[in-house]
Amino acid sequence: MKTVGTLPRGSIDLALLYAAHDAFRRDLERLAAAVAAGKARAPHVREGWENLKEQLHLHHEVEDAELWPRVRRALGGRRAELAVLKQTTAEHARLEPLVVAVDAALEDGVDLAGAVDRLRTELDVQLRHEEVSALPLVRSALSAEEWTAFAEAVRQRCEKGTQVLIPWIVDGIAPIERSRFLTALPMTVRELNRISWEPRYRKLRLWTV
Ligand SMILES: [Fe+2]
Repeated sequence: MKTVGTLPRGSIDLALLYAAHDAFRRDLERLAAAVAAGKARAPHVREGWENLKEQLHLHHEVEDAELWPRVRRALGGRRAELAVLKQTTAEHARLEPLVVAVDAALEDGVDLAGAVDRLRTELDVQLRHEEVSALPLVRSALSAEEWTAFAEAVRQRCEKGTQVLIPWIVDGIAPIERSRFLTALPMTVRELNRISWEPRYRKLRLWTV
C-alpha cells in the first residue's frame, strides 16, 4: 500500500463513514450524561464537545463537498435517488443551528438538556437516513475510478485530522468492533495509531470529569 503523508491511498472507504456515525452517537450520549450529572462545564467535557463539533464539521464537509457531488454526477437523471441526496444536504444544514444552540446553552445554562436532546434526536434521524438511503447509493453509483478520486480528495482534506480521527473513532468502542475497524486499516496507519496517535489522544482525556 502506497503511503502519502499520514493517510495511505486506498485506506478510505464507507466503513470509515459508518464508524464516524457511531462515534457521533457515542459522543452525544456522553454529552447528555455529563449534562444529566451537572458536569457539562467540566474542562474535558468541553474539550470533548469542541472535538465533536470539529469532527462533525469535517464529516459534513467531506460528504457535501466531495462525496455527494460525485454521486450526483454518477446518478445522472435518476430523480428519486437525487432527491435522497438533496434531502441529506438539507439535513446537514438543519443541524447547524442545533449545534449553535448547544453552544449557547453551555454558556448561559438555559435549557441545556433540551438543546442537547434536540441535537441528538435530529442527528440520529439524519445519520439513519444517510445509512439507509444515501450511503448505499455510493456503492451502487460510483465507479472504481470515481471512488479513488474521492478517496484522494478526502486524504488531502483529512491529512492533519487523521491523527485524531482514528483514535477518536475507536475511543471506548467494544473490543471486537475496535479490532475489526483497526484491522481493516493499512498496517502503516495502524502502527502510527498504536505508537503515536492513540497515546496522544488518550492524554486529552476527552469527556472525563
Ligand atoms: Fe455521514
